[in-house]
Amino acid sequence: MVDPNGSGRRTPSADRSRRPPSSFVEDANVTDPGIHEAFETEWPDCWERAADLLEWDEPYGTVLDDADAPFYRWFTGGRLNASHNCLDRHVDGGAKNHAAIRWEGKHGESRTYTYRELYTAVNAFAAALGELGVGEGDVVTIYLPTIPELPIAMLACARIGAPHSVVYAGLSADRLATRLEAADSDHLVTCDGYYRRGDAFNQKRKVDNAVLSLSRSVETVVVDRLGGAFEHDLADGQYDYDTLVDAHAGTTVEPVPRDAEEMLFLMYTSGTTGEPKGVVHTTGGYLAYAAWTARAVLDLKPEDTHWCTADIGWITGHSYVVYGPLALGTTTLMYEGSPDYPDRDRLWEIVDRNAVDVFYTAPTVIQAAMKWGEEYPARHDLSSLRLLGTVGEPISPRPWEWYHEHVGGGECPIVDTWWQTETGGHVVTTLPAIDGMKPGAAGPGLPGHDVRILDDAGEEVEPGRAGYLALGRPWPGMARTLYGNDERFLEEYWREFSDPEDDEWIYFGGDAAVVDADGYVTVLGRVDDVISVGGHRLSTMEIESVILEVAGVAEAAVVGAEATGVYAYVSVERGHDDESAIEERIKERIETAIGPIARPEAVIFASDLPKTRSGKIMRRLLEDVAAGEELGDTSALRNPEIVGEIQSSVRNC
Ligand code: WTA
Repeated sequence: MVDPNGSGRRTPSADRSRRPPSSFVEDANVTDPGIHEAFETEWPDCWERAADLLEWDEPYGTVLDDADAPFYRWFTGGRLNASHNCLDRHVDGGAKNHAAIRWEGKHGESRTYTYRELYTAVNAFAAALGELGVGEGDVVTIYLPTIPELPIAMLACARIGAPHSVVYAGLSADRLATRLEAADSDHLVTCDGYYRRGDAFNQKRKVDNAVLSLSRSVETVVVDRLGGAFEHDLADGQYDYDTLVDAHAGTTVEPVPRDAEEMLFLMYTSGTTGEPKGVVHTTGGYLAYAAWTARAVLDLKPEDTHWCTADIGWITGHSYVVYGPLALGTTTLMYEGSPDYPDRDRLWEIVDRNAVDVFYTAPTVIQAAMKWGEEYPARHDLSSLRLLGTVGEPISPRPWEWYHEHVGGGECPIVDTWWQTETGGHVVTTLPAIDGMKPGAAGPGLPGHDVRILDDAGEEVEPGRAGYLALGRPWPGMARTLYGNDERFLEEYWREFSDPEDDEWIYFGGDAAVVDADGYVTVLGRVDDVISVGGHRLSTMEIESVILEVAGVAEAAVVGAEATGVYAYVSVERGHDDESAIEERIKERIETAIGPIARPEAVIFASDLPKTRSGKIMRRLLEDVAAGEELGDTSALRNPEIVGEIQSSVRNC
């Protein structure tokens, strides 16, 4: 394992602790400071509070079954349907005319779905999927951008008990094909194209390429996003979304009661190897946890308009655009465009116009906004905001303060939420009305969790020292396994610190962190070969292997740097000295093979890459160079002379 020491950046001091304003505390969902202790004494039954946020068709018998640990089972014997919980019960409970989704399109269009309208749309599409032969347990792949048909398709799948696997719309045809194949998925929901920045982008061509490369046939439903502006043909096995839905307008489909432990969805995420991991989430535990954390951490109430800017193609969008808010009967806002189009005040204009109450975004978005300047948020009335949140990367104190002051008007608490695809929902964060905030630290960990910072030997390190962020107790929203690969699940998360002989299971998700004397955790970043950039999780190995396919490239090392994106360091073979041509080919190749999200910010050429005496490329050093940080000791290098050359290339790029 990699030593986390040395990647330490900052430790917030206790005296920076801030209390939320009393106006916030008065109306907050969770205000009892005794909750941390109550969860300790009641554990694991404390998690009934999460299950109680849902309506069950059949009550569960046991809260936690740990007989097969670490393959934990939650709320066993219970049956429920996620679509019923996100729709029917609100419609029946008097909220039918309440807005469920407010959608803001790229070009200023907007659409609102009330809970009743969303219910109708979901039922019609559920009926259409049934007609296409989708049954309980069949995995449906969804490859859509941020348009209402995406949550509609997810909820339609949930309604009929078909797990969905949403693939981020910006991923390439190759990646879509691998995911269809790995999930044994014979059904796909996609669209003709969508707008990226100002331009129409052909999504269907990617789909056709992906499907062609597969050995089996895939029934495909195509949403017409671009209308007449963009013609597309439908081949055999391809169906027009509107035609299908019109044919089933007004149909209601009874939600299928699912066992709490049955799969609600699969989410592919990058692992340390190039092969993606299909993280399995369940109907009972996941939904209860998404709802509970949305209520306790994001403080969501039915009357709120909540805006989580994450793409639904990633876990944050699943938990906090779709399932958490809708389970609670909240209005969730979806935005198709980018933060700086048509202008750099776009986010704040949307907050203002929709009177957004809770705003949840990634530190990269805040850093960009900070760079653009405070005059953009200042153009708008942001006084509707009550709570702000961040996710995806560590947030440093400076952007934290900027966010607090220029977006929150100094009045909104900020929750810095650490979690992962595998955790299903928030794990390390503050409860906004209870725990003081420390800019730069995520927080103490939610009630019911056992957050530990461990050294290589699995011992807890003292405050102030970096270690591995590990979780000593299971929780309802945790991943149950990796699709079709229990062994890899054990290997990736449970081998490092667990003691199977003693039946002691400790989860390790790949991050390093440091804890202060008050138990506040500052997350330092990944210690494995996974990088998180702008809320996207990428595997460095996967990108490197694509770069190595480019003619002329001898060696490649990819790192992610906070706020700067993906940096690729490359050395070229003798005789290939046209660096700019190689750079272009690298960028193109990455875009086609993986997608634009993995496109490097910079390709840095060097005559050699810094290596240890055993010949391993020193990625940590390359990360520090990319971030412009002080370099530590380079004496362990076989070729220390290369460092200066690389530093000056970075400065000049
Ligand atoms: C990183 C996104 C610091 C971390 C929810 C984790 C964070 C990875 C934070 C998971 C945070 C997430 N502070 N780092 N508040 N939140 N991360 O699976 O490295 O896309 O392991 O889930 O993002 O990324 P994933």
